[in-house]
Amino acid sequence: GTARLTLHPAFTVGRVSPRLFGSFVEHLGRCVHTGIHEPGHPAADADGLRTDVLDLVRELGVTTIRYPGGNFVSGYRWEDSVGPKDERPRRLDLAWHSTETNRFGLSEYIAFLRKLGPRAEPMLAVNLGTRGVAEALALQEYANHPAGTALSDLRIAHGDKEPFGIRLWCLGNEMDGPWQTGHKTAAEYGRLAAETARAMRQMDPSVELVACGSSSQAMPAFAAWEATVLAETYDLVDHISLHAYYEPHDGDLDSFLASAVDMESFIENVVATCDHVGARLKSKKRISLSFDEWNVWYMSRWQQQERAADPADWPEAPRLLEDNYSVLDAVVSGSLLIALLRHADRVTVACLAQLVNVIAPIMTEPGGPAWRQTTFFPFAQASRHGRGEVLDVRVDSPTYATAKYGETDLLHATAVRADDGSVTVFAVNRGRTGPLPLEVTLTGLGLTEVVEHSALADADPDARNTLAEPDRVVPHPVTGTTLAGERLTATLEPLSWNVIRLA
Ligand code: AHR
Repeated sequence: GTARLTLHPAFTVGRVSPRLFGSFVEHLGRCVHTGIHEPGHPAADADGLRTDVLDLVRELGVTTIRYPGGNFVSGYRWEDSVGPKDERPRRLDLAWHSTETNRFGLSEYIAFLRKLGPRAEPMLAVNLGTRGVAEALALQEYANHPAGTALSDLRIAHGDKEPFGIRLWCLGNEMDGPWQTGHKTAAEYGRLAAETARAMRQMDPSVELVACGSSSQAMPAFAAWEATVLAETYDLVDHISLHAYYEPHDGDLDSFLASAVDMESFIENVVATCDHVGARLKSKKRISLSFDEWNVWYMSRWQQQERAADPADWPEAPRLLEDNYSVLDAVVSGSLLIALLRHADRVTVACLAQLVNVIAPIMTEPGGPAWRQTTFFPFAQASRHGRGEVLDVRVDSPTYATAKYGETDLLHATAVRADDGSVTVFAVNRGRTGPLPLEVTLTGLGLTEVVEHSALADADPDARNTLAEPDRVVPHPVTGTTLAGERLTATLEPLSWNVIRLA
């Protein structure tokens, strides 16, 4: 059968927030050290930042970058990461069983963002695992207060005259997870988040705060956690976080390809929970969603590695979570981007976890090159062309059977209308066996031309980019896509991510 959808400018979801194309840099494995920062590398600048990586991050089109964790933040002592580098202490990082040298810290993170350009915005997490209100305030004062106090003057003495101007802050990380250092119950965390938020707003009412939601929709306390936390924090925070990682289980690729079904239900369930709390509080305020960790992650492989690790070993920048992504993984990742765009009315922040080496679109070799994984391409294309107003796309699609989600649409799609009137359709064919004919009816959009149809697909869905073969997989142009009157006709290759640009 043929998959069909209709686009009309009057039916929209909402505007895409630039923050939807965020990413995440954690002190984990080689994301920071030998990832973005490698003094002595031939491509390193005077600050030790790898310019080859900076170029790729710019090409990826990343906006907001969350830092410094992740699980790492729950043991984070920000003071360790500022001041003269030679005096910075080496610390045990309990989250990733590593040694943190602190050779890259807060000031270097801000320098990294400034070099990326005006689109890059900080998103800083405070430690609510082993620390609390006082340390969050100290960090905020050091980072943001212009001058004339002990901590702002300390920043200036450290060489950063200009305040960092950090507006977006995460109140801890995954505090519902038993793996989190200083893990808390919903009631404990709700109170701590509320008091931290109140104090941070006393210093600066313009900060935007993200409360921790559940670490995944599968957590036993999911929804109850959000309701308890929001009952304490509703008037004090702006966003609630969502995290989700997907991988195939027991070789079930058909369900894996439908991962966005879970992601979309997760978003809708969090929206319902937020609005339920808002209704109880008789509040007109709407909480927005910060999907601040999402990706494909072969987590079960990591868990096996972790069990086999030597407990006496605390390595520096070890190779951790260095998943090498296939074409199939990239198609799923593209579908997750479609899910986020489809909910752009409520999801206003999203961070691809993570940016370099650690479950990342960009890989590096110490002393060697940097290259793009397969998952680089859907993100770069969505960030480039997915700006404007998301159109309300209702899909009429043939289906396929999945063990996890039942009958599922073969087509997953969204469309974004830019301010100049051009429209980009993002579409995934989840089918592994056959091409999918697509027909789009375009009404009242004044479109006359197919500018481009680009696809990521391969005869070998397991194909990957590697150090030896860094450009094995790249998107290719598709011919035969036509626009006749108001009807667009295309064929989506089996297992493919597609970008169809119309003007
Ligand atoms: O992104 C990897 C880890 O996944 C993060 O540190 C944590 O927040 C999540 O569990």
